[in-house]
Order: sequence, then C-alpha cells, then structure tokens
Amino acid sequence: MDITVFGSGYVGLVTAACFADAGNTVVCVDVDARRVETLSRGEVPFYEPGLDQMVRANFQQGRLRFTTDAAEGVSHGLFQFIAVGTPPGEDGSADLKYVLQVADTIGSLVTDYRVVVTKSTVPVGTADKVREALLAALQRRGESVEIDVVSNPEFLKEGAAISDFTKPDRIVIGTDNPRTAELMRALYAPFNHNHDRIVVMDVRSSELTKYAANAMLATRISFMNELANVAEKVGADIEKVRIGIGSDPRIGYHFIYPGCGYGGSCFPKDVKALVHTASESGHAAALLAAVEDVNQRQKRVLFENIRKHFGGDLKGRTVALWGLAFKPNTDDMREASSRVLMEALWESGASVRAFDPVAMHETRKIYGERADLALCDNAEAACEGADVLAIVTEWKQFRSPNFERLKKLLKQPTIFDGRNLYDPQLLRRQGFAYYSIGRAP
Ligand code: UGA
Repeated sequence: MDITVFGSGYVGLVTAACFADAGNTVVCVDVDARRVETLSRGEVPFYEPGLDQMVRANFQQGRLRFTTDAAEGVSHGLFQFIAVGTPPGEDGSADLKYVLQVADTIGSLVTDYRVVVTKSTVPVGTADKVREALLAALQRRGESVEIDVVSNPEFLKEGAAISDFTKPDRIVIGTDNPRTAELMRALYAPFNHNHDRIVVMDVRSSELTKYAANAMLATRISFMNELANVAEKVGADIEKVRIGIGSDPRIGYHFIYPGCGYGGSCFPKDVKALVHTASESGHAAALLAAVEDVNQRQKRVLFENIRKHFGGDLKGRTVALWGLAFKPNTDDMREASSRVLMEALWESGASVRAFDPVAMHETRKIYGERADLALCDNAEAACEGADVLAIVTEWKQFRSPNFERLKKLLKQPTIFDGRNLYDPQLLRRQGFAYYSIGRAP
C-alpha cells in the first residue's frame, strides 16, 4: 500500500519505517530540510535500538523515502498519517498548530480520496478540528474531494518502539465509517498477530483511550511513590510492599516501581493535557492533578536527601551522577529527573560529575559547557573525587558496580539511589551510607 507520514520525529519515523518494512511504500514528509537530508543518508538523529538499520535497509530498497515536498506526500499515500509534534502550551494544553497545519496542507493539495490518520497524541475533539481544517482548505479551492479522518493513537515505549509497533497489544482505530475501518484493518494486517488485536471505536473514545492509558500508568507510578514516602516514615520497605501487592493479578507487577519520578515526552505532558481537557469540559480532575503534583515532588526527593545529608549546605560539594536519560535505552532527556536534580544542585553551589551510556551528547546540547558540570567517560570516572554518588536512571551497567573501588573513588562512601538498584543490607555491610526510595536509610 502507499502511505505518507507527515513528521519524521520519534512516532513518525517509527511508523514510517515499520510500515515500509512490512512491504509498503512510504513517503515521509518533514519541513526540516536538514533532518530530511540526515535521514536520506540513513542516519537517525536520535537513539532507538534497531531503528537506524530498519530505516537504512528500507531506504536502500526504495520502500522508504524522505522529502520536504508536501505535494509529493499528498499525491503518494492513500493513507496520510499526521505524526507531527504537539508541544505543551503554557497552560498544559497540547498545541495543535502543527497538526492543523498539516491538515491544511493536505486539504490544499489533495485531488483523490484519502484517509487522514491522526497518530500524534491529540486531545479529544482534534479529529473534528482536522476535518474542519481539511474542508476549509478544500473550500478555498472550490474543490470537493472525499476524505475520511481516523484516530489511530500510538502506544510506543521509547527503547522498545519497534517491537511495540510490530507486535502491538492492541491497535485502536477510531472511526464512524465501516469502510474506513476495513481499510485500516488491511493496513495493519501484518502486525495483527495470533488473535485480533484491532479495536474499532468512535473517534472521541479512541482519542481519550490514549490519554487514559498514559494517565493510568502515571497514576500507578505516583501512587507507588506516595506510598514509598509513607513506607520510609513508618519504617516499612516499599520493595517488599511492591511484591506483596503485585502478586494480586488485579494489581500486577507492571508499572509499580517506585523511583525518583516519571519523565519523558509523554506522561508529564499527557497528564497535564488531560487535566486541561477535563477542566475545559467543566470537570476538575482532582486525582490527575495530584498525580502530577506527586511526581513533581518526587523528582526532588534525591536532592532533598542529599541536602539533608550535608546539613543543608552544598556549597563546594561535588555529586557524581549516574544516568541522565529519563529512562534506560534512550538518550531522551525530556522531563528527566536528572535535570531537576542537577539544576537544584547547581543552584545550591554544588558541582556534578555525570555519566550516561548514551545521553551525554544530549546533555551537552541542553546545558553546553559549564564549570559545574563534568561529563565523564564512564561510571567510575564520574565518582573520581566526588563527595557522594546519586543514581537517577537504572541502566543495566549500574546494577553491579565494584563497590570496593567506588569506596576508594568517593570522598564519602554514600549512595543516593533513585531507582532502588541495590540491597540495603549488602550496601551497609560494604560500609556505605545508602539512601534509596521508600526504604529506611
Ligand atoms: C510511555 C508509555 O509507556 C507508552 O505506552 C506510550 O505509548 C508512550 O508513553 C507515549 O505516549 O508515547 P515512554 O514515555 O517511552 O512510554 O516511557 P515508559 O517506559 O512508560 O516510562 C515513563 C517513565 O516512567 C520513566 O521515567 C520511567 O522511569 C518511569 N517509571 C516507569 C517508573 O518510575 N516506574 C515504573 O514502574 C515504570
């Protein structure tokens, strides 16, 4: 089938590459000429396991191409995916400027029947706005072309995007038109394994499903972080509590890991956007607002522990920091807890010696060269001459360090662990002061 994807960011590129890999011919349109050029050289401008090989292979075989030419995109695909960014506005609402610009472009150029699919995470009601923008553009030209608008949210996790796309738990299709549902069903047939994973529903329910899924997951995390703080106060161990409740299949083990807060481009933005949508519709979403508040507080827990440890004075101290990305297997630093920690440390006059397996380049891009930030070559180098160690991201390589060496490298054998990587008893035996989440120090 012929497919066009507008936007070659994270969602757009994964969508384009996976559809091409399934044998379709895909044109990916982006307004950023430099990005198009980079991609056309087979280089992926961010880190996602397996994606660069997939892009290169399909590009070389002619099933995937990149262009800035919107007209080429509109004339190519029966399916026109909109996968451009929806940055959060000041008030937490998702900014639809780019989505509606694409709709306007399609409406200005289209000559034959098209299925326009919103793939970006967009608030309830966006498909209607996309339809209006398409119709308005057609009207300006005095043309009438049949177009269907479908909501088809993505559920990719960074670091596992390809397998999430090609082996999805569910494929949600929001449309009121049975014929369009059949077209979408045929498009997704290569990924609809074992049993039917396609769920067809009305457009608004589909749009809300995406937010509901992320908000539910974020709620689980904030719930556990809230309980972790209680556990610490009452002398319980949240890791034991986690196993104790996760064994109930109604609760389950997934997404109940306490930590130093959730980050990334999705949870923080989507929870805020849903609070905004609810309030616009006249409902104050108290629970969701609390999920966000708890998360913001949780992102400061490591800093508060470090501050207390040093009696409130961090001037001249150096903190080694392991992990900068918002989670392992990505170089994404958006809303990362590491940023809250680093910025608070700097504000208090402390310096940071940081290491992350892949997010060093990204960190340099965000913060540039500064005297109070040393980007180190490896995890041990970050500890050299630092007073204490803080861990923010649970990369595999941080799970079994050489504690004897760490003790020699750090001025104080003290670890602030935002991801509960180690056994507190073991660390105590090794002679460390060990602060983790939801377990007594
Ligand atoms: C999330 C969802 O998991 C995807 O299903 C969704 O498609 C995606 O957002 C999206 O809307 O595009 P992602 O942001 O890549 O995916 O990352 P997650 O793996 O969900 O992790 C999010 C954050 O939660 C990370 O900071 C992670 O450290 C934190 N987390 C996760 C916890 O603190 N505890 C947990 O138990 C799980």
